[in-house]
Amino acid sequence: MSDLSTHPPQDVAAATAAPASRAGGGYVEFAGVTKRYQTRRSSTLALSDINLRVEREEFIALVGRSGCGKTTMLRILAGLVQPTEGQVTVDGTSVWNGARRDDQALSKLGLVFQDSNLFPWYSVMDNIALPLRLRGVDKKERRARAKEMAELVGLTGFERAYPRELSGGMRQRAAIARALSYDPDILLMDEPFGALDAMTRDKMNMELQRISIATKATVVFVTHSITEAVFLADRVVLLSARPGQIKSVTKVAIPRPRTLDAQTDAGFQETVRELRHQLTEEEERES
Ligand SMILES: Nc1ncnc2c1ncn2[C@@H]1O[C@H](COP(=O)(O)OP(=O)(O)O)[C@@H](O)[C@H]1O
Ligand SMILES: [Mg+2]
Repeated sequence: MSDLSTHPPQDVAAATAAPASRAGGGYVEFAGVTKRYQTRRSSTLALSDINLRVEREEFIALVGRSGCGKTTMLRILAGLVQPTEGQVTVDGTSVWNGARRDDQALSKLGLVFQDSNLFPWYSVMDNIALPLRLRGVDKKERRARAKEMAELVGLTGFERAYPRELSGGMRQRAAIARALSYDPDILLMDEPFGALDAMTRDKMNMELQRISIATKATVVFVTHSITEAVFLADRVVLLSARPGQIKSVTKVAIPRPRTLDAQTDAGFQETVRELRHQLTEEEERES
């Protein structure tokens, strides 16, 4: 593993371009994306000139200190926030046409946030099937699909339970099942396991790896945890402090499926150490 702390900027740019990319760019692509939040009282440059190409079925982890723009990147990709400058494309289709969102690009996306956001008055089954109901899928098909997704995330037997009857980990499983219900090509996850205890989190990381392999989803995953990022990702993208810029892109070459024991491998620990070092540099620069 090379020493990333000595990488010149052009190497970062080279690593940003995913391998084997087709003409016309990656499956998901950020090109020159800048975001400035403008309120009456203040102006915050949250992201500056973000360029990133994500390949189909790739697992990308976004890390960086709090406030560096991780959520903003995800929200721009999800069509929830409009970029100030630049383009975001999904499979060649721009997510944003000026101030207008492209629904076709967005239909490929599934979202999971830190809080599962389940409806408390709906059963697990009905929560999972909600996106299908909103898409006009008939009841029988909805039920069949919800059952299949509950099984995929390990919630078989809990289809009729209500969110309050579930543990935190189970609620996040239900949220993942809901996001997967309409078979999105791309899963966007914003610190989905941030509120879970360490053991549940390990288990969910194993589950997510299995699910992403089974569904062939392209994943963009935001996390505070470098260990989690290295465990899950094909590439870890580290953002610098405000304004968020891509500071480094690190490939994780550990073969899949990875076991939790992989975390004790020398290569794994070296990668974690390098990324931690870069993050600490960021914090020192800021203070
Ligand atoms: N809606 C908003 N209005 C104004 N400023 C915002 C808004 N959302 C985020 N910000 C600011 O943009 C920066 C990046 O925020 P965010 O993307 O949430 O970072 P992260 O997810 O990495 O913690 C922060 O300084 C934050 O305060
Ligand atoms: Mg955030």
